[in-house]
Amino acid sequence: MEHRGKIRWGLLGAGRILDRWMNGARQVEDMENAAIASRTKERAQLMADRYGIQEAITYEEMLEREDIDVVYIPVPHTAHKELAVQAMDHGKAVLVEKPAGINAKEHQEMVEAAKRNKVFYMEAVWNRFFPMVDQIHEMIGENGIGEVRAMNMAFSYRVTPDENVQTRIIDPKQAGGGLLDVGVYNLHFAQTILEKNPVELIGMAAIDSDEYHIKVDEQASYIAKYDRGELVMMSSGIRTQMEDTAYIYGTKGYIVVPVFWKPTRMKVVLGEGNDCQIQEVTSPVTQKISGIEDEGFQYEIIHVNDCLRKGLMESPVMTWEKTGDILEQCDSLRAQWGLKYPME
Ligand SMILES: NC(=O)c1ccc[n+]([C@@H]2O[C@H](COP(=O)([O-])OP(=O)(O)OC[C@H]3O[C@@H](n4cnc5c(N)ncnc54)[C@H](OP(=O)(O)O)[C@@H]3O)[C@@H](O)[C@H]2O)c1
Repeated sequence: MEHRGKIRWGLLGAGRILDRWMNGARQVEDMENAAIASRTKERAQLMADRYGIQEAITYEEMLEREDIDVVYIPVPHTAHKELAVQAMDHGKAVLVEKPAGINAKEHQEMVEAAKRNKVFYMEAVWNRFFPMVDQIHEMIGENGIGEVRAMNMAFSYRVTPDENVQTRIIDPKQAGGGLLDVGVYNLHFAQTILEKNPVELIGMAAIDSDEYHIKVDEQASYIAKYDRGELVMMSSGIRTQMEDTAYIYGTKGYIVVPVFWKPTRMKVVLGEGNDCQIQEVTSPVTQKISGIEDEGFQYEIIHVNDCLRKGLMESPVMTWEKTGDILEQCDSLRAQWGLKYPME
């Protein structure tokens, strides 16, 4: 695909995440947000006005548009695959929100659609593209904390049953629950840091508990073991606020990464006791527009643009294999918990 002008993006859906994603998109020069789609034109128009996007159209109209290079799909998990496959079958490149699908099988169908249509497809695991990820890797090994032996991390927040919460989070029919909403960040971060997958993964989940009585994983903890004996302990959930900090323990020290799902800071501790050396490293998001809450979505968007300009079908960073491996891990945990979504 040869792009002479800016890369033309279409927003295929108008989920709440868009407010945050658009703050990143507005800062990317090589990008034009050409149109936004919703199931109704009224809602599409509302969102187009909100973001200053020229055209408000339906999903069907978006698919037929020949001038759109790539679509971003910010809709509930259960709607990802169908929209992504349709978009690819209409020749569009796809950036689909995480989790790419509700299970590994759905991801495989999307990979096949990408291959069939020779178009780009990537899961939007945006934290993989933060500069801090490379900085963490630089502090692992001989010049830093040595070999990684263990990690601990949690990503869990609290919604109460009487709160006006997004129903997709608690709705089994929309693949609700903590694992697919935030737990995937744990699994992706472990994979990013260790650069491999576990040989064993076991977990426990609170499903249909005394407080919520909903048939999704309200709270879960899981532990992964790797080929060299590394152990990673993880928690996720929607009924308990936990500290979303990752700890990476090595043979010579450890690294603390606050808010590891959008990492911009780390503390590196080398040695032990009072003689330890502590180094604080920060890598704030480069903000080109002041006055907006800039979380760093531009990194993944710039990466997708780069891939498109190079004519790639697959990101070299967020590969199809990695997405498939994470969804297989989710499938395996859910099988242990006896958690099947009604549409599976
Ligand atoms: N990267 C991140 O940090 C991050 C953060 C939050 C969420 N996410 C991901 O983004 C995705 C969207 O989350 P969200 O909270 O933004 O979702 P949401 O607000 O519940 O999404 C609702 C939107 O999805 C559209 N939609 C299309 N097909 C649908 C269907 N079959 N059922 C219901 N809605 C449908 C709706 O369309 P209409 O306009 O046509 O009604 C509406 O615009 C999720 O997969 C989530 O995991 C990522």
